[in-house]
Amino acid sequence: MIEQIFYPQPIQLSRLKSGVINIIDIDREVYVIAIKLGDKLEIIEDICPHMGGLLSQGKYCPKTNTLQCSWHGYIFDLETHLFKENPNEEIWEKLRYPTKHFTPGKTPKYKLSLLAYEIRGDEAYVYRKGNLS
Ligand code: FES
Repeated sequence: MIEQIFYPQPIQLSRLKSGVINIIDIDREVYVIAIKLGDKLEIIEDICPHMGGLLSQGKYCPKTNTLQCSWHGYIFDLETHLFKENPNEEIWEKLRYPTKHFTPGKTPKYKLSLLAYEIRGDEAYVYRKGNLS
């Protein structure tokens, strides 16, 4: 049955607020965040790729199209979905010395986990992982 490839609860597009983090339950407490900016809609797992913080508790900036996690403040670019900046680096600069496992100045490769979806009328059906369009 084709519907099993989607999470059961579609996202009502007309209820989404533009330029903010929309927190949506797509399957009995499986939350995702939906960010709508202009015609673009991003549906992202509510988990930070750094250490698992809830991105829904973070901040979205429509001017820079970036998402900031509330746990350690990492900023992600929603154009590339990649880690963009760690605002703490300046503060901790004197403590950031090279070790076997750490190279200062090297940009981490953290990436937001996007979920694919399909629009049907006023609803976005989110594909389950492994069923990407
Ligand atoms: S868990 Fe998100 S920045 Fe660390």
